[in-house]
Amino acid sequence: MNDLDLDRIRAEFPALAGDTVFLDNAGGSQVLRRVADRVSEYLLTSSVQLGASYAASQAAGEKVSAARRAVAELVNAAHDDEVVMGGATTALMFMLVQALLPGIRPGDEIVVTESDHEANIGAWMRLRQAGAVVKIWQVDRDSLALELADLDALLSPRTAWVALTWASNILGTVNPVADVSRRVHAVGGRVCVDAVAYAPHRLVDVQASGADVVVFSFYKVFGPHYAVMWVQRDLLRGLPSLNHYFIGPEVMPYKLQPGNVNYELSYGCIGIRDYLVDTGSALGAAGTPRQRMQTAFDAFERHEDALAGRLLQWLGSRRTVRIIGRPGAGDGQRVPTISFIVDGRSSESVVRHVDRFGIGIRFGDFYAKRLIEALGLQAQGGVVRVSMAHYNTVAEIDRLIDHLDEVVA
Ligand SMILES: Cc1ncc(COP(=O)(O)O)c(C=O)c1O
Repeated sequence: MNDLDLDRIRAEFPALAGDTVFLDNAGGSQVLRRVADRVSEYLLTSSVQLGASYAASQAAGEKVSAARRAVAELVNAAHDDEVVMGGATTALMFMLVQALLPGIRPGDEIVVTESDHEANIGAWMRLRQAGAVVKIWQVDRDSLALELADLDALLSPRTAWVALTWASNILGTVNPVADVSRRVHAVGGRVCVDAVAYAPHRLVDVQASGADVVVFSFYKVFGPHYAVMWVQRDLLRGLPSLNHYFIGPEVMPYKLQPGNVNYELSYGCIGIRDYLVDTGSALGAAGTPRQRMQTAFDAFERHEDALAGRLLQWLGSRRTVRIIGRPGAGDGQRVPTISFIVDGRSSESVVRHVDRFGIGIRFGDFYAKRLIEALGLQAQGGVVRVSMAHYNTVAEIDRLIDHLDEVVA
């Protein structure tokens, strides 16, 4: 088991050469130089309309197709045409729900969770206009987890969709998506997974997830403000076109990409895939690109667990701190997105203190408003959230702890 060469890793991210300590990575990660280089290369060499017969248009079209192939590989899609791309997870979720709307019958049941980002709740609520009944899968008040037994109680032969997050952007908990998919499919429903908080920390495998739709945003995964929605092929085939009347339902995935994809950002995303493969190779991995990416993510996980463990241990030792989520790291069940509150202090005051030292953390509800309300944390100003990425160092976590120590008893 080789360790990450953090000097080599950090050199890939130009912003990390500065003085800021980036610990708001679940808000947005730093961007790979190779992603930015590709975006620039595309803009400066390939800005032509696609689909024409002249050579430059053909070459640009090949670049955009290569991007789709790279993203398909990154998520382990069986077919490139299952990969829908668009501006943001929120926008893609609205797109999906808009496409599902004509197929919804009164009484169809939709299960959403209490711990999701609003992107994977609010869009589904709109299906109530077609008579859908929305049920809420609550987090267990003791474990703060989404318990499968509670899901079982919500499922019925009328269940059409279950929408859940792969990892909570507040709790950091990884949800058992494959188990959920098996249960939901057993009653004839489908599963939509928000992988935004998961994809920076684990290699997404849409096939192993068993889900029908998986969505995430590249700006949390070392890339640009851009997003992908994988839709299982048979499901996608059956959806109507949201594009022009002459682009029919058989035109996949273009039918769900009105106005088409952003070419340069798509092309930039190849850099994410290449970085992961090269990092795996540098760690000694051989084999397929996916196997190399897995080696990279295994090393990310070990390193992130060490960072998260360090902060969690310190937080656990403070008498005024309540960790909102799992108190330990290293069991595969949490990503290094760590939330807490401090008795007697607003979350804002803790963050404002840390701001003064060039360390980026954050407070609030992070658009998981319903969870913060359910846990009664609004008065506190939401939680303090520290969210790490694999490029963070032990020294950075120690620097944060030193400054937290100045305000947290
Ligand atoms: C878990 C989760 N889901 C969805 C989103 C929304 O993503 P986007 O900004 O691409 O719409 C976010 C953004 O913070 C998130 O953290």
